[in-house]
Amino acid sequence: MTPSVNVVAIDGPAGAGKSTISRQLARVLNLPYLDTGAMYRGITCAALRSGVDPTDDSAVAHLAVSTILDISDDALFVDGVDATLDIRGEAVTRAVSSVAANSEVRRELRERQRSWVQERGGGVVEGRDIATVVFPDARLKVFLTASPLVRAQRRVAQIGGDVDQIARDIAERDHKDSTRTDSPLRESVNSILVDTSNRSIDDVVKQIAEVFRG
Ligand code: DC
Repeated sequence: MTPSVNVVAIDGPAGAGKSTISRQLARVLNLPYLDTGAMYRGITCAALRSGVDPTDDSAVAHLAVSTILDISDDALFVDGVDATLDIRGEAVTRAVSSVAANSEVRRELRERQRSWVQERGGGVVEGRDIATVVFPDARLKVFLTASPLVRAQRRVAQIGGDVDQIARDIAERDHKDSTRTDSPLRESVNSILVDTSNRSIDDVVKQIAEVFRG
């Protein structure tokens, strides 16, 4: 797990702007981009497709080891079948927290994430445990956050729906992600905290890129 020198670890709760900011940052820094949330969603999708109960830890653990995830900047194929849209759908979003709390799944995906970065010599990697667990020696660690209302409004702008309901869903998922035993969502000791609530994407990306370049 050594050469994570060129890693920018971006963690934070849903709706903090992680994906948009990480993608743009990767372009600016000319580094590859990895969305680790999409990998947890991919395993969840594999479970739902094959009729495996997402809360059946041992069945999902088996599935995680055997499922082929082919991830690129704008698509995810699960066992050769395009799952790009499915992984953002309601069914996967509802079930993914249980899959992400499964320690065997986390162990498997953590190893894949490290190999992915090692093969490419670095990357902008976003998730919930990137700075704390996956790449504790990342060159730069960023914890993105935003107010609950702004986060809910952003989700509504992306996927539609009722802002109060989405705010409740986000709060529930945050709670699950930050109270689980294995690799909970947590700010790393030496990360920089960036509140994106009232800031433009360009502005945040510029700030992080400047810190990265030193
Ligand atoms: O970022 P996202 O909403 O696509 O993440 C989907 C789920 O996966 C969410 O419940 C958090 C979880 N996750 C995680 O536990 N660890 C990561 N490194 C990335 C995502």
